[in-house]
Amino acid sequence: MSQLISDAMKQQAALVSTLRKANIYTYSLEVSSSCANRIMVSGKERINFISNNYLGFSTHPKVLEQVKKAADKYGLGIGGSPLACGTTDLHYRLQERIAQVYEREACVLLPSGYQALLGSIQATIGKGDVALLDSLVHRSIVDGVTLSGSDKRMWLHNDTEDLETLLPRARSKYKRMLVIVDSVYSMDGDWADLPELYRLKEEHGAMLLIDEAHSLGVLGKRGYGLPDHFDMPHAPDVIAGTFSKFAGAVGGFVAGPSDFIDYLRHSASAYIFSASLPPLTVAGVYKSFELLDEEPEWKDRLWSNINYFLKGLEEIGFDTGPSRTAVVPLLIRDVEKTMTFNRMVFDEGVFASPIVHPAVPPAESRIRLGVMATHTREDLDKSMDIFKKVGKKLSIIP
Ligand SMILES: Cc1ncc(COP(=O)(O)O)c(C=O)c1O
Repeated sequence: MSQLISDAMKQQAALVSTLRKANIYTYSLEVSSSCANRIMVSGKERINFISNNYLGFSTHPKVLEQVKKAADKYGLGIGGSPLACGTTDLHYRLQERIAQVYEREACVLLPSGYQALLGSIQATIGKGDVALLDSLVHRSIVDGVTLSGSDKRMWLHNDTEDLETLLPRARSKYKRMLVIVDSVYSMDGDWADLPELYRLKEEHGAMLLIDEAHSLGVLGKRGYGLPDHFDMPHAPDVIAGTFSKFAGAVGGFVAGPSDFIDYLRHSASAYIFSASLPPLTVAGVYKSFELLDEEPEWKDRLWSNINYFLKGLEEIGFDTGPSRTAVVPLLIRDVEKTMTFNRMVFDEGVFASPIVHPAVPPAESRIRLGVMATHTREDLDKSMDIFKKVGKKLSIIP
Protein backbone atom coordinates (compact mmCIF):
# COMPACT_ATOMS: atom_id res chain seq x y z
CA MET A 1 0.00 0.00 0.00
CA SER A 2 1.18 3.53 -0.70
CA GLN A 3 2.48 5.77 2.09
CA LEU A 4 -0.57 7.97 1.51
CA ILE A 5 -2.64 5.38 3.38
CA SER A 6 -2.49 5.80 7.18
CA ASP A 7 -3.04 2.91 9.65
CA ALA A 8 -6.67 3.92 10.20
CA MET A 9 -7.16 4.02 6.45
CA LYS A 10 -5.60 0.58 6.10
CA GLN A 11 -8.41 -0.94 8.15
CA GLN A 12 -11.00 0.62 5.85
CA ALA A 13 -9.08 -0.48 2.75
CA ALA A 14 -8.87 -4.04 4.11
CA LEU A 15 -12.64 -4.11 4.66
CA VAL A 16 -13.28 -2.95 1.09
CA SER A 17 -10.88 -5.58 -0.21
CA THR A 18 -12.65 -8.33 1.81
CA LEU A 19 -16.05 -7.26 0.45
CA ARG A 20 -14.67 -7.27 -3.11
CA LYS A 21 -13.18 -10.74 -2.69
CA ALA A 22 -16.49 -12.04 -1.32
CA ASN A 23 -18.21 -10.51 -4.37
CA ILE A 24 -20.60 -8.53 -2.19
CA TYR A 25 -19.17 -5.07 -2.98
CA THR A 26 -21.78 -3.23 -5.06
CA TYR A 27 -20.67 0.41 -4.89
CA SER A 28 -20.04 2.52 -8.00
CA LEU A 29 -21.01 -0.15 -10.51
CA GLU A 30 -20.75 1.06 -14.10
CA VAL A 31 -24.01 2.64 -15.27
CA SER A 32 -24.54 3.06 -19.01
CA SER A 33 -28.05 4.50 -19.40
CA SER A 34 -30.18 7.39 -18.14
CA CYS A 35 -31.63 7.28 -14.62
CA ALA A 36 -35.06 5.88 -15.57
CA ASN A 37 -37.14 3.22 -13.80
CA ARG A 38 -35.00 0.64 -15.61
CA ILE A 39 -31.26 1.26 -15.65
CA MET A 40 -28.29 -0.44 -17.36
CA VAL A 41 -25.72 -1.49 -14.75
CA SER A 42 -22.59 -3.53 -15.54
CA GLY A 43 -24.15 -4.24 -18.91
CA LYS A 44 -27.44 -5.58 -17.47
CA GLU A 45 -30.89 -4.03 -17.23
CA ARG A 46 -32.03 -3.64 -13.64
CA ILE A 47 -35.05 -2.12 -11.87
CA ASN A 48 -33.79 1.18 -10.51
CA PHE A 49 -34.24 1.61 -6.75
CA ILE A 50 -30.94 3.33 -6.09
CA SER A 51 -31.67 6.86 -7.27
CA ASN A 52 -33.26 9.96 -5.76
CA ASN A 53 -34.80 10.89 -9.11
CA TYR A 54 -38.18 10.54 -7.41
CA LEU A 55 -40.33 12.27 -10.03
CA GLY A 56 -38.35 10.95 -13.00
CA PHE A 57 -37.81 14.51 -14.31
CA SER A 58 -34.20 13.92 -15.38
CA THR A 59 -35.50 12.26 -18.56
CA HIS A 60 -38.73 14.24 -19.04
CA PRO A 61 -38.92 15.36 -22.71
CA LYS A 62 -39.91 18.94 -21.80
CA VAL A 63 -36.92 19.21 -19.45
CA LEU A 64 -34.56 17.86 -22.11
CA GLU A 65 -35.93 20.31 -24.67
CA GLN A 66 -34.94 23.23 -22.42
CA VAL A 67 -31.56 21.67 -21.67
CA LYS A 68 -30.80 21.34 -25.40
CA LYS A 69 -31.86 24.95 -26.10
CA ALA A 70 -29.61 26.22 -23.31
CA ALA A 71 -26.70 24.06 -24.52
CA ASP A 72 -27.04 25.58 -27.99
CA LYS A 73 -27.06 29.11 -26.62
CA TYR A 74 -24.59 28.94 -23.69
CA GLY A 75 -22.45 25.86 -24.39
CA LEU A 76 -21.20 23.34 -21.85
CA GLY A 77 -20.67 25.74 -18.94
CA ILE A 78 -20.38 29.42 -18.18
CA GLY A 79 -16.72 29.27 -17.20
CA GLY A 80 -16.66 31.25 -13.99
CA SER A 81 -17.85 31.72 -10.44
CA PRO A 82 -21.21 33.40 -9.73
CA LEU A 83 -19.58 36.69 -8.66
CA ALA A 84 -17.67 36.75 -11.98
CA CYS A 85 -19.40 35.69 -15.24
CA GLY A 86 -21.39 32.80 -13.72
CA THR A 87 -24.79 34.42 -13.12
CA THR A 88 -26.77 34.32 -16.37
CA ASP A 89 -30.32 35.44 -17.03
CA LEU A 90 -31.32 31.78 -16.51
CA HIS A 91 -29.73 31.78 -13.03
CA TYR A 92 -31.65 34.95 -12.14
CA ARG A 93 -34.98 33.48 -13.36
CA LEU A 94 -34.47 30.26 -11.38
CA GLN A 95 -33.54 32.17 -8.21
CA GLU A 96 -36.71 34.23 -8.56
CA ARG A 97 -38.81 31.10 -9.13
CA ILE A 98 -37.47 29.36 -6.01
CA ALA A 99 -37.96 32.50 -3.91
CA GLN A 100 -41.61 32.45 -5.06
CA VAL A 101 -42.04 28.74 -4.35
CA TYR A 102 -40.83 29.17 -0.77
CA GLU A 103 -42.37 32.65 -0.33
CA ARG A 104 -39.01 34.24 0.48
CA GLU A 105 -37.52 37.58 -0.53
CA ALA A 106 -34.50 36.05 -2.22
CA CYS A 107 -32.68 32.92 -3.28
CA VAL A 108 -29.18 32.04 -4.42
CA LEU A 109 -27.96 29.03 -6.43
CA LEU A 110 -24.91 26.94 -5.48
CA PRO A 111 -23.15 24.15 -7.40
CA SER A 112 -24.52 21.37 -5.17
CA GLY A 113 -26.85 20.67 -2.27
CA TYR A 114 -23.80 19.90 -0.15
CA GLN A 115 -22.45 23.37 -0.82
CA ALA A 116 -25.86 24.94 -0.19
CA LEU A 117 -25.78 23.49 3.33
CA LEU A 118 -22.18 24.59 3.92
CA GLY A 119 -22.93 28.08 2.64
CA SER A 120 -26.23 28.58 4.43
CA ILE A 121 -24.83 27.51 7.80
CA GLN A 122 -21.57 29.44 7.43
CA ALA A 123 -23.57 32.58 6.62
CA THR A 124 -25.89 32.17 9.62
CA ILE A 125 -23.71 31.26 12.61
CA GLY A 126 -20.10 31.48 13.79
CA LYS A 127 -17.90 31.45 16.86
CA GLY A 128 -19.91 32.06 20.04
CA ASP A 129 -23.09 30.60 18.52
CA VAL A 130 -24.52 27.08 18.70
CA ALA A 131 -26.13 24.74 16.18
CA LEU A 132 -28.76 22.37 17.58
CA LEU A 133 -28.95 19.39 15.24
CA ASP A 134 -31.36 16.49 14.98
CA SER A 135 -29.07 13.46 15.45
CA LEU A 136 -29.87 12.13 11.95
CA VAL A 137 -29.19 15.25 9.88
CA HIS A 138 -27.21 14.84 6.68
CA ARG A 139 -23.43 14.98 6.72
CA SER A 140 -23.42 18.25 4.78
CA ILE A 141 -25.03 19.90 7.82
CA VAL A 142 -22.48 18.50 10.24
CA ASP A 143 -19.66 19.69 7.96
CA GLY A 144 -21.33 23.09 7.59
CA VAL A 145 -21.41 23.54 11.36
CA THR A 146 -17.72 22.59 11.62
CA LEU A 147 -16.85 25.10 8.90
CA SER A 148 -18.87 27.82 10.65
CA GLY A 149 -16.79 27.57 13.85
CA SER A 150 -19.90 27.44 16.03
CA ASP A 151 -20.50 24.86 18.76
CA LYS A 152 -22.73 21.88 18.08
CA ARG A 153 -25.33 20.07 20.18
CA MET A 154 -27.29 17.00 19.01
CA TRP A 155 -30.82 16.15 20.10
CA LEU A 156 -32.53 12.79 19.74
CA HIS A 157 -33.98 12.13 16.32
CA ASN A 158 -37.36 13.82 15.83
CA ASP A 159 -37.69 14.21 19.61
CA THR A 160 -38.73 17.83 20.10
CA GLU A 161 -39.02 17.26 23.87
CA ASP A 162 -35.28 16.58 23.92
CA LEU A 163 -34.70 19.77 21.91
CA GLU A 164 -36.88 21.66 24.40
CA THR A 165 -34.60 20.64 27.27
CA LEU A 166 -31.51 21.87 25.38
CA LEU A 167 -32.81 25.27 24.31
CA PRO A 168 -32.93 27.14 27.68
CA ARG A 169 -29.43 25.91 28.60
CA ALA A 170 -28.05 26.93 25.20
CA ARG A 171 -29.73 30.32 25.41
CA SER A 172 -27.89 31.24 28.60
CA LYS A 173 -24.52 30.24 27.12
CA TYR A 174 -24.56 31.30 23.46
CA LYS A 175 -25.20 34.47 21.49
CA ARG A 176 -27.38 32.83 18.84
CA MET A 177 -29.01 29.43 18.38
CA LEU A 178 -29.71 27.74 15.05
CA VAL A 179 -31.92 24.63 15.01
CA ILE A 180 -31.24 22.52 11.91
CA VAL A 181 -33.32 19.62 10.57
CA ASP A 182 -33.74 17.62 7.40
CA SER A 183 -37.32 18.11 6.22
CA VAL A 184 -37.35 14.43 5.21
CA TYR A 185 -34.61 12.18 6.61
CA SER A 186 -32.41 10.73 3.91
CA MET A 187 -32.01 7.26 5.42
CA ASP A 188 -35.29 6.77 7.32
CA GLY A 189 -37.82 8.59 5.14
CA ASP A 190 -39.71 10.21 8.03
CA TRP A 191 -40.23 13.97 8.29
CA ALA A 192 -39.67 16.79 10.78
CA ASP A 193 -42.42 18.20 12.98
CA LEU A 194 -42.42 21.74 11.60
CA PRO A 195 -45.28 23.14 13.75
CA GLU A 196 -43.55 22.05 16.97
CA LEU A 197 -40.13 23.26 15.78
CA TYR A 198 -41.66 26.62 14.96
CA ARG A 199 -43.29 26.88 18.39
CA LEU A 200 -39.99 26.07 20.11
CA LYS A 201 -37.85 28.42 18.07
CA GLU A 202 -40.29 31.30 18.70
CA GLU A 203 -40.51 30.56 22.42
CA HIS A 204 -36.75 30.34 22.92
CA GLY A 205 -35.53 32.96 20.48
CA ALA A 206 -33.77 30.51 18.15
CA MET A 207 -33.55 30.40 14.34
CA LEU A 208 -34.63 27.47 12.18
CA LEU A 209 -32.91 26.13 9.04
CA ILE A 210 -34.48 23.27 7.09
CA ASP A 211 -32.87 21.07 4.44
CA GLU A 212 -35.47 20.40 1.77
CA ALA A 213 -33.41 17.77 -0.11
CA HIS A 214 -35.89 14.85 0.02
CA SER A 215 -39.01 16.94 0.60
CA LEU A 216 -39.19 19.28 -2.41
CA GLY A 217 -41.34 17.70 -5.13
CA VAL A 218 -42.58 15.05 -2.70
CA LEU A 219 -44.39 16.73 0.21
CA GLY A 220 -47.13 19.34 0.12
CA LYS A 221 -50.24 20.02 -1.92
CA ARG A 222 -48.17 21.61 -4.71
CA GLY A 223 -45.01 19.59 -4.05
CA TYR A 224 -43.37 22.64 -2.49
CA GLY A 225 -41.99 20.66 0.42
CA LEU A 226 -42.38 20.59 4.19
CA PRO A 227 -43.61 24.21 4.62
CA ASP A 228 -46.26 23.48 1.96
CA HIS A 229 -47.22 20.20 3.68
CA PHE A 230 -47.94 21.98 6.97
CA ASP A 231 -49.16 25.16 5.25
CA MET A 232 -46.55 27.12 7.24
CA PRO A 233 -44.55 28.91 4.53
CA HIS A 234 -42.88 31.27 6.98
CA ALA A 235 -41.98 28.82 9.74
CA PRO A 236 -38.29 28.33 8.78
CA ASP A 237 -35.89 31.28 8.73
CA VAL A 238 -33.62 29.73 6.12
CA ILE A 239 -34.36 27.05 3.51
CA ALA A 240 -31.61 25.07 1.79
CA GLY A 241 -32.13 22.40 -0.84
CA THR A 242 -30.84 20.52 -3.82
CA PHE A 243 -31.79 19.73 -7.41
CA SER A 244 -30.25 16.26 -7.21
CA LYS A 245 -33.44 14.68 -5.90
CA PHE A 246 -36.65 16.29 -7.21
CA ALA A 247 -35.08 17.14 -10.59
CA GLY A 248 -32.62 14.23 -10.69
CA ALA A 249 -29.97 16.80 -11.65
CA VAL A 250 -27.28 18.61 -9.68
CA GLY A 251 -27.11 21.96 -7.88
CA GLY A 252 -28.34 23.56 -4.70
CA PHE A 253 -30.11 26.66 -3.40
CA VAL A 254 -30.58 28.77 -0.30
CA ALA A 255 -33.70 30.91 0.19
CA GLY A 256 -34.28 33.57 2.86
CA PRO A 257 -34.47 37.32 3.52
CA SER A 258 -32.71 39.44 0.88
CA ASP A 259 -30.13 40.95 3.27
CA PHE A 260 -29.15 37.46 4.44
CA ILE A 261 -28.85 36.10 0.88
CA ASP A 262 -26.75 39.11 -0.08
CA TYR A 263 -24.49 38.50 2.92
CA LEU A 264 -24.15 34.82 1.94
CA ARG A 265 -23.12 35.83 -1.58
CA HIS A 266 -20.26 37.88 -0.16
CA SER A 267 -19.17 35.62 2.70
CA ALA A 268 -19.84 31.91 2.07
CA SER A 269 -16.76 30.17 0.67
CA ALA A 270 -18.88 27.38 -0.87
CA TYR A 271 -20.50 30.07 -3.05
CA ILE A 272 -17.60 32.41 -3.78
CA PHE A 273 -14.84 29.91 -4.51
CA SER A 274 -16.60 27.50 -6.87
CA ALA A 275 -17.70 27.67 -10.50
CA SER A 276 -21.34 28.40 -11.24
CA LEU A 277 -23.92 25.79 -12.26
CA PRO A 278 -23.98 25.26 -16.05
CA PRO A 279 -26.86 27.18 -17.68
CA LEU A 280 -28.10 23.95 -19.31
CA THR A 281 -28.64 22.47 -15.84
CA VAL A 282 -30.33 25.65 -14.64
CA ALA A 283 -32.68 25.55 -17.65
CA GLY A 284 -33.64 21.92 -16.95
CA VAL A 285 -34.22 22.60 -13.27
CA TYR A 286 -36.36 25.64 -14.08
CA LYS A 287 -38.57 23.46 -16.28
CA SER A 288 -38.73 20.90 -13.47
CA PHE A 289 -40.16 23.59 -11.16
CA GLU A 290 -42.71 24.46 -13.84
CA LEU A 291 -43.65 20.79 -14.12
CA LEU A 292 -44.55 20.69 -10.42
CA ASP A 293 -47.43 23.03 -11.33
CA GLU A 294 -48.11 21.94 -14.91
CA GLU A 295 -48.07 18.17 -14.40
CA PRO A 296 -49.04 17.39 -10.79
CA GLU A 297 -49.79 13.82 -11.89
CA TRP A 298 -46.11 12.93 -11.34
CA LYS A 299 -46.37 13.67 -7.64
CA ASP A 300 -49.70 11.79 -7.50
CA ARG A 301 -48.11 8.77 -9.21
CA LEU A 302 -45.19 8.90 -6.83
CA TRP A 303 -47.52 8.84 -3.81
CA SER A 304 -49.59 6.03 -5.26
CA ASN A 305 -46.35 4.03 -5.69
CA ILE A 306 -45.06 4.91 -2.20
CA ASN A 307 -48.30 3.75 -0.54
CA TYR A 308 -48.52 0.56 -2.61
CA PHE A 309 -44.86 -0.33 -2.04
CA LEU A 310 -44.76 0.39 1.70
CA LYS A 311 -47.92 -1.64 2.28
CA GLY A 312 -46.60 -4.53 0.17
CA LEU A 313 -43.22 -4.65 1.91
CA GLU A 314 -44.82 -4.57 5.35
CA GLU A 315 -47.18 -7.39 4.36
CA ILE A 316 -44.21 -9.48 3.26
CA GLY A 317 -42.70 -8.92 6.71
CA PHE A 318 -39.95 -6.36 6.11
CA ASP A 319 -39.12 -3.72 8.70
CA THR A 320 -39.35 -0.39 6.86
CA GLY A 321 -38.79 1.68 10.01
CA PRO A 322 -40.60 5.01 10.27
CA SER A 323 -40.66 5.64 6.49
CA ARG A 324 -43.61 7.57 5.10
CA THR A 325 -42.05 8.91 1.89
CA ALA A 326 -40.11 7.95 -1.25
CA VAL A 327 -37.10 6.98 0.90
CA VAL A 328 -37.79 3.40 1.99
CA PRO A 329 -35.32 1.48 4.17
CA LEU A 330 -35.36 -2.30 4.49
CA LEU A 331 -33.81 -2.72 7.93
CA ILE A 332 -31.54 -5.77 8.03
CA ARG A 333 -29.42 -4.73 11.05
CA ASP A 334 -26.32 -6.72 10.09
CA VAL A 335 -23.49 -5.45 7.86
CA GLU A 336 -22.60 -8.67 6.06
CA LYS A 337 -26.21 -9.74 5.52
CA THR A 338 -26.99 -6.28 4.14
CA MET A 339 -24.14 -6.45 1.64
CA THR A 340 -25.06 -10.03 0.68
CA PHE A 341 -28.77 -9.18 0.32
CA ASN A 342 -27.89 -6.32 -2.00
CA ARG A 343 -25.67 -8.50 -4.20
CA MET A 344 -28.34 -11.22 -4.38
CA VAL A 345 -31.18 -8.85 -5.31
CA PHE A 346 -28.88 -7.28 -7.89
CA ASP A 347 -28.27 -10.69 -9.44
CA GLU A 348 -32.05 -11.25 -9.50
CA GLY A 349 -32.77 -7.90 -11.18
CA VAL A 350 -32.90 -4.96 -8.68
CA PHE A 351 -30.32 -2.20 -8.31
CA ALA A 352 -30.43 -0.84 -4.74
CA SER A 353 -28.14 0.73 -2.18
CA PRO A 354 -26.61 -0.97 0.89
CA ILE A 355 -26.22 1.46 3.79
CA VAL A 356 -23.76 0.32 6.44
CA HIS A 357 -21.23 1.76 8.90
CA PRO A 358 -20.04 4.57 8.94
CA ALA A 359 -23.20 5.95 7.25
CA VAL A 360 -25.31 4.28 9.99
CA PRO A 361 -24.35 2.22 13.09
CA PRO A 362 -23.89 -1.52 12.28
CA ALA A 363 -27.15 -2.40 14.05
CA GLU A 364 -28.96 0.02 11.75
CA SER A 365 -27.60 -1.54 8.52
CA ARG A 366 -30.16 -1.44 5.76
CA ILE A 367 -30.98 -1.42 2.08
CA ARG A 368 -32.12 2.03 0.99
CA LEU A 369 -34.75 2.15 -1.74
CA GLY A 370 -35.80 5.23 -3.70
CA VAL A 371 -39.34 5.00 -5.06
CA MET A 372 -39.99 6.74 -8.41
CA ALA A 373 -43.12 8.12 -10.02
CA THR A 374 -42.05 6.29 -13.18
CA HIS A 375 -41.96 2.84 -11.56
CA THR A 376 -44.67 0.67 -13.06
CA ARG A 377 -46.75 -1.74 -10.98
CA GLU A 378 -44.79 -4.50 -12.70
CA ASP A 379 -41.51 -2.93 -11.44
CA LEU A 380 -42.87 -2.77 -7.90
CA ASP A 381 -44.38 -6.27 -7.90
CA LYS A 382 -41.32 -7.88 -9.45
CA SER A 383 -39.00 -6.16 -6.97
CA MET A 384 -41.14 -7.21 -4.02
CA ASP A 385 -41.07 -10.83 -5.26
CA ILE A 386 -37.27 -10.64 -5.44
CA PHE A 387 -36.96 -9.07 -1.98
CA LYS A 388 -39.25 -11.77 -0.60
CA LYS A 389 -37.28 -14.62 -2.19
CA VAL A 390 -33.88 -13.29 -1.04
CA GLY A 391 -35.22 -12.16 2.35
CA LYS A 392 -36.45 -15.69 3.07
CA LYS A 393 -33.21 -17.28 1.87
CA LEU A 394 -31.20 -15.09 4.25
CA SER A 395 -33.74 -15.51 7.10
CA ILE A 396 -34.40 -11.76 7.17
CA ILE A 397 -38.15 -12.36 6.98
CA PRO A 398 -40.12 -15.42 8.21
C1 LIG B 1 -30.53 15.43 3.25
C2 LIG B 1 -29.49 15.79 2.25
N1 LIG B 1 -29.00 17.03 2.25
C3 LIG B 1 -28.07 17.41 1.36
C4 LIG B 1 -27.58 16.53 0.42
C5 LIG B 1 -26.52 16.98 -0.54
O1 LIG B 1 -27.07 17.18 -1.79
P1 LIG B 1 -26.24 17.00 -3.14
O2 LIG B 1 -26.05 15.53 -3.35
O3 LIG B 1 -27.13 17.61 -4.14
O4 LIG B 1 -24.95 17.71 -2.98
C6 LIG B 1 -28.08 15.23 0.37
C7 LIG B 1 -27.57 14.27 -0.63
O5 LIG B 1 -27.31 13.14 -0.40
C8 LIG B 1 -29.05 14.85 1.30
O6 LIG B 1 -29.54 13.60 1.32
